[in-house]
Amino acid sequence: MLKPPYDLRCEYLFNPICIDIRKPRFSWLLTHEERNQTQSAYQIIVSSDKNLSKSENGDVWKSGKIISENNVNITYEGNPLESDKIYFWRVKWWDKKGEESEYSLINHFGTAFIDDSYWKAKWISRSEFIDKKTRRQLQYKSGKRGLIGRLREVHAVYLRKEFSISKEIEYAKAYVCGVGYYEFKLNGKKVGDRILEPAQTDYNKIALYSTYDITDCLKKSNAIGVILGNGRCIEIFGYDYPKLILQINIHYKDGMSEVICTDNSWKISNGPIQENGIYYGEIYDARLEMPGWDEPNFDDENWREAIIVDGYNLASQMMQPIQITKSLKPTELSSPKPGTYVYDFGQNFTGYVKLKVFGPRGSEVKLRFAELVYEDGNINTATIGGAPTTDKYILKGEGIESFEPHFTYHGFRFVDMTGFPGVPSLNTLEGLFFHSNVPKVGNFFCSNNLINQIHTNIIWGQLSNLMSIPTDCPQRDERHGWMGDAQLTVEEAILNFNMVKFYAKYLRDIKLCQRGDGSLSDVVPPYWSFYPADPAWGTAYITIAWYLFWYYGDVRILEEHYEGMKKYVEYLTSIAKENLIYFGKYGDWCPPSNIVSRKTPIELTSSWYYYHDVHFLAKIAHVIGKQEDHEYLLNKAKEIKESFNTKFLTGVYDVVKHSPTDRTISQTSNILPLYLDMVPQGKKKKVLSTLVNSIKEDYSYHFDTGIIGTRYIFDVLSENGYSDVIYKMVNQKSFPGYGYMIKEGATTLWERWEKLEAGGMNSHNHIMLGTVDTWFYNTIAGIKSLEPSWKLLRIKPFIPNSMNYASASIKTIKGFISNSWEKLEKDLKLTITIPVGCNTEVWIPIEEESCVITEGNVTIWSNNENIKHSDDIEFLKLEEKHVIFNIGSGFYQFVIKYK
Ligand code: BGC
Repeated sequence: MLKPPYDLRCEYLFNPICIDIRKPRFSWLLTHEERNQTQSAYQIIVSSDKNLSKSENGDVWKSGKIISENNVNITYEGNPLESDKIYFWRVKWWDKKGEESEYSLINHFGTAFIDDSYWKAKWISRSEFIDKKTRRQLQYKSGKRGLIGRLREVHAVYLRKEFSISKEIEYAKAYVCGVGYYEFKLNGKKVGDRILEPAQTDYNKIALYSTYDITDCLKKSNAIGVILGNGRCIEIFGYDYPKLILQINIHYKDGMSEVICTDNSWKISNGPIQENGIYYGEIYDARLEMPGWDEPNFDDENWREAIIVDGYNLASQMMQPIQITKSLKPTELSSPKPGTYVYDFGQNFTGYVKLKVFGPRGSEVKLRFAELVYEDGNINTATIGGAPTTDKYILKGEGIESFEPHFTYHGFRFVDMTGFPGVPSLNTLEGLFFHSNVPKVGNFFCSNNLINQIHTNIIWGQLSNLMSIPTDCPQRDERHGWMGDAQLTVEEAILNFNMVKFYAKYLRDIKLCQRGDGSLSDVVPPYWSFYPADPAWGTAYITIAWYLFWYYGDVRILEEHYEGMKKYVEYLTSIAKENLIYFGKYGDWCPPSNIVSRKTPIELTSSWYYYHDVHFLAKIAHVIGKQEDHEYLLNKAKEIKESFNTKFLTGVYDVVKHSPTDRTISQTSNILPLYLDMVPQGKKKKVLSTLVNSIKEDYSYHFDTGIIGTRYIFDVLSENGYSDVIYKMVNQKSFPGYGYMIKEGATTLWERWEKLEAGGMNSHNHIMLGTVDTWFYNTIAGIKSLEPSWKLLRIKPFIPNSMNYASASIKTIKGFISNSWEKLEKDLKLTITIPVGCNTEVWIPIEEESCVITEGNVTIWSNNENIKHSDDIEFLKLEEKHVIFNIGSGFYQFVIKYK
């Protein structure tokens, strides 16, 4: 029997309750016992009630039987959706032969405020904050050093409100936004497990509210408690002070409803959380705790009244929240000097530590965080720049106390603890790893330990840099959404995690930061207003949008941002001179032994990205049916390409004059035009061979690329038949290279190729060199998508002599794709899974013409020809010592037997 669709998603989310758009989209996955299957039709029903859904009555929407192979992003076309409702939906499908499935299990989606008029609540805050003078008296003046200047953060604000209910509840939802950060409690308990809410945005443009199902948290008498922290909502980033908006909508069983809102009846107070900030850390004075403040019947007579303040535009936060995903036990504890204890967690990560302590009232335990230690065992804070990164807990002296901060995070491996009453143990601190909790979709493992370690470092580094925006680093006084770092790693991130909601939110951040002239800021949200962006950073707008379309088939994203992206390209055109861009700030940033590249001119990277963006915008215009634009852009791209080659191609791409002792060419200058196929026919061979020879001879198989060249070198070498060369480079253990970082103890990737432990640009947890991971998936495991939303892919593993197996799987928008290869004495086995609706070119390596290929024990190839013809496995061609078959969905096991 045909299995019904499973893993239903609404706007890519599983049973979301936060949908604030009128036409959400649905996706589902399919399995089939037969191979080579596709969906031929589907039918969706949406109901206003679970019982109606059970009886298959779609009173809100009946799509009818829709003839379509598509099971991704199907747009809702039913009755207008209402705000603050729960809807139930199911889907069934017909396979290729017309067999019909049952309906899926019932899934639901809830709406938030589709219409702003549903907001009854007001923004509230503390009266002294309104006036700059009185606010300043309440501010701390820490963080004087480094990039951040004076932080001017206020201590945390505590807000409370009681209410009672007398009827039976059907469901209740809370809509909450507190900037910079908030913690939301009901009846003494934190609601949900979100951390550092809401997601960071440019609040002056938009603030995001989250939706909580609180049906089970409500009682007869209730108390709401909210704590507000500074986050980014401070003067230095262009904002003023923390504020809150909260609305609870209660729906009773009798059909009536009630609304509880923030207004000036709320009470406000200081509390135990004192200074708090992303960079600063947190000071918590447990002596100031107010037991019961977030529960009913608390005496708040001494609390003041909250006041209504100006607020921000709101939209629903439709992305994964930041959550704790791992608890880490320290691996070592030492005491480099009396009273100082240093903990090693064995891993660089983002989060904070939970402290357990027993001691006299007023004792102060201080925790400082670092990525490195000196030889004498003391922490080395050189990489945190001007971020104080310090938590302090002041004991109340009542039994065993425990503390974890609320509104800060650190990037660290080591913790220095002083002021601890007594002697601490390994159990005193627990590391808590958190980040935007994007679902893990990719897995990679192989027989090469160094490659596995690089992959592991990248996973830690990538997650560490997802804090509701893609950050550059988590430890120093930056932690910004540098767009260059984000765009370079977008494919790596997508292969490892389901990134679509995260990036969709980020694209909106980019759109909102765009200036009238089309320019963007290097840093988005523009907490640092760095306009105009270096073209290698600004490209993030087009690059990320393109990859969301490519990997998730999301056309709506392209439509939504088309005008913005076009404006950005027009901006580039406005600063171009004869099709080339001479403006740039960073270029091929951080090549070995430098910060700014000496070999790759800035005008080359900037002009190349101009070409890149026009080229991709042309594709985008085509996808969304802007044919005229498409043609104009194609033509423009051609002109840029010609100017680029005229300017930079002098035999090979090498325009920087070197000293007589340095004859080496720039790797990046040659990689970039090869990547986008810009090299004129007839010249490509020379460019490629010069590049490869130089890598071998001048660089002894080492990288000489900054972050830009490193992004593209893998594809360029592998797609042109030089996987063995790049494989050797990846496996180097000497400087500069990934193996060198690992050999020197890196547990994430560094910002720089060189090992730097003194002050300056030396983060030990940057992700921008992380593209190598994409290559593990698409070359070592061989899984590469050839068409949008994985409808067509290629499986063409590179099988190094020194490796015995590699295996990767990716849960794509179409379902699980996996490939494992394994050497068995003389044979090679390929095990492949392809989801319904996808086609795959399988490239099977045949070293010897005499080899025999079987699939599921049936011989399909021998004596250099295809001997069994079936619908499942279609022979396509012989090329580059590979037999190439086309396969549809299903499970396949190929064995290549060498004589
Ligand atoms: C950041 C980078 C960023 C760069 C721009 C640095 O300080 O950490 O990752 O892309 O500045 O040059």
